[in-house]
Amino acid sequence: MPSPNQDRIEDLVNEHKREELLLKSIMGRIKHKVIVMSGKGGVGKSTVAVNLAVGLAARGRKVGILDVDITGPDVPLLLGLEGKRLMGSENGMVPVEGPLGIKVVSMAFVLQDPSRPIVWRGPMKMGAIRQFLSDVDWGDLDFLVIDLPPGTGDEPLSVVQYLPGADGAVIVTTPQDVALLDVSKAVSFAQLLNLNVIGIIENMSGLECPHCNKEIEVFKKGGGERLAKDMGVPFLGRVPLAPVIMTASDAGTPFIGAQEDSPAKKAFSDIIDKIEGVLKGNEEKDKGRGKEKVEEKRPQKEKAGGTGAKGAKGKRA
Ligand SMILES: Nc1ncnc2c1ncn2[C@@H]1O[C@H](COP(=O)(O)OP(=O)(O)OP(=O)(O)O)[C@@H](O)[C@H]1O
Ligand SMILES: [Mg+2]
Repeated sequence: MPSPNQDRIEDLVNEHKREELLLKSIMGRIKHKVIVMSGKGGVGKSTVAVNLAVGLAARGRKVGILDVDITGPDVPLLLGLEGKRLMGSENGMVPVEGPLGIKVVSMAFVLQDPSRPIVWRGPMKMGAIRQFLSDVDWGDLDFLVIDLPPGTGDEPLSVVQYLPGADGAVIVTTPQDVALLDVSKAVSFAQLLNLNVIGIIENMSGLECPHCNKEIEVFKKGGGERLAKDMGVPFLGRVPLAPVIMTASDAGTPFIGAQEDSPAKKAFSDIIDKIEGVLKGNEEKDKGRGKEKVEEKRPQKEKAGGTGAKGAKGKRA
């Protein structure tokens, strides 16, 4: 007769298998997963993530954005969604609807008081990230943009682990040496984990002087492109240091959606073209090799239901 301990272990293993199936089935409905990361803090990851999401949505793509910065979630502020809450449904948590129908999930939407710090160790963060991926009714999406906190710690590791079919990472840097040193670690981290690097963006690259219109290289210039070349990954482009980007962020209205044209908007729009181009190129390469994306081999609905997956009605928050 199996001991109570053996029964418990078997239950845990089965539960884990069910969660795996559920994760695969939910992620299988999302065509592209793009992870925005950097080895360095404050270089503009969240700004890039929200503007990428809004820019793609403005092109008619169905987009979601997942804020994986558990301890410093900024995406709600950048999209003007502060104070919103995630609701539950029979199909899982329902993302908050952002501009242009973007589906948004962030830790800030589940906290009683977002101004109080979260003091969590790795396993708790990993559990939350897993739930945000597998216990959310993301539906069918063309893109899920994932905004990461700085560095190469628990959050990036969890995301890469839970999303083996992710398209890859967009790595954000600023041009100065101290940022480049940290960011090269993010590139190595991705390569170590077999995560494709979609490319590097050099943010805060040059500032146009409002008085003489000459360019001031506040943090130097060209370092991101050099790093991309040295590490053999694509360079996606430069975004200038522009007050409009910061004021738009603070106002919760991403600058890519502004009516007025600006060099920053043009630069970012070109970057989105490039990202879409790289993804398309990768897709064609994969097709040529007869390779399927991991999540596309998703389980049949009945199979997930048959194993008692949490996707079954009434089983979720
Ligand atoms: N190109 C830019 N020009 C002007 N301001 C910018 C630019 N890019 C980002 N910022 C501003 O810099 C600040 C930091 O940006 P952001 O929050 O996107 O960085 P982050 O890398 O996500 O930071 P963290 O590491 O804390 O998550 C914000 O106030 C943002 O508005
Ligand atoms: Mg951020």
